[in-house]
Amino acid sequence: MRGGYAGDMSLKDLVYMAPPVPSLRGRKVLITGAASGIGRATALACANEGAHLVVTDLHIEPLDALVAEVGAAGGTVLYHQAGDVSDYDWVAAFARAVDAEVGVMDVVMNIAGISAWGTVENLEHKHWKSMVDVNLMGPIHIIESFVPQMVARGKGGQLVNVSSAAGLLALPWHAAYSASKFGLRGVSEVLRFDLRRHRIGVSLVCPGAVATPLVNTVDIVGIDRDNAEVAEAIGGFHKMAASPEKAAAAIIKGIKKNQYIVYTSFDIRFGYWWARKFAFPYEVAMRIANDQFTRLARKAPPKAVSAAKEIRATGT
Ligand SMILES: NC(=O)c1ccc[n+]([C@@H]2O[C@H](COP(=O)([O-])OP(=O)(O)OC[C@H]3O[C@@H](n4cnc5c(N)ncnc54)[C@H](O)[C@@H]3O)[C@@H](O)[C@H]2O)c1
Repeated sequence: MRGGYAGDMSLKDLVYMAPPVPSLRGRKVLITGAASGIGRATALACANEGAHLVVTDLHIEPLDALVAEVGAAGGTVLYHQAGDVSDYDWVAAFARAVDAEVGVMDVVMNIAGISAWGTVENLEHKHWKSMVDVNLMGPIHIIESFVPQMVARGKGGQLVNVSSAAGLLALPWHAAYSASKFGLRGVSEVLRFDLRRHRIGVSLVCPGAVATPLVNTVDIVGIDRDNAEVAEAIGGFHKMAASPEKAAAAIIKGIKKNQYIVYTSFDIRFGYWWARKFAFPYEVAMRIANDQFTRLARKAPPKAVSAAKEIRATGT
């Protein structure tokens, strides 16, 4: 082509970018949701690799415990503070404090999250709103409060957003959760191109099942979790779940290699590949999964509903 490519970036930069954070040693790393599960395991693993941490979570006590554990193992936590990522004013004040005390981050990781599942007739407004507030607006608040400083500094870095298999696939009853996780995938998909010119890589983490406290706290609206079949299904989820440590190792590898989609288990890598290659079989598989959920729900209505039916049946 005569004259070459007439844009801002060189042809070489368009084709290849060396991973911006090939090692975590001495790098400043922000982690949200660091008090539990994947966030906690990732904080411990990053500290073990020599990263200097800034950690936050909604809950101060387990966050303090994490900070103490990192310190006892010889790691470094530069700053920690508890707060709610869905509260923009708190995130902005937290970012100002971090800027003043610690400076600009090298890696920003959005890991905090919550989960609620249910059909559209069972989900209440609070479920839809809390998913979007915490899982989508939370990461957006963190991105807008921490990433512009990285751009201005001009030394690159990495943004890590933890989405989910439910950010790639139409899992049954996941509409509210997927609203947030597909949303975060959209943000990441655009930012990976917008931020490239600033040598900031973007990783979208898409875990399948991971054995964390979230599995027990997920709000399954319209189902009695104590029902034997539901308990068995949750037990099956636990059995196939990866450990948080395995998820943390995948995330760290993803940062060092600047991988875009980071899988924490093979099933989701295969499932997403399969969904893209075989559109119709994917649709049938999703219909079957949906049917199975509905069958289970019929057998395990929420306690209030089954008690009301009992009263109607017995007249008591
Ligand atoms: N565990 C899984 O199977 C799984 C699967 C796919 C995706 N994920 C995602 O992985 C991420 C981590 O989940 P986990 O399984 O480690 O769960 P977890 O419950 O063990 O940890 C989540 C952490 O986020 C914190 N948090 C929740 N709401 C917050 C808020 N408003 N502000 C600040 N912190 C808040 C919690 O206090 C908790 O410490 C989440 O984004 C979740 O959606 C988990």
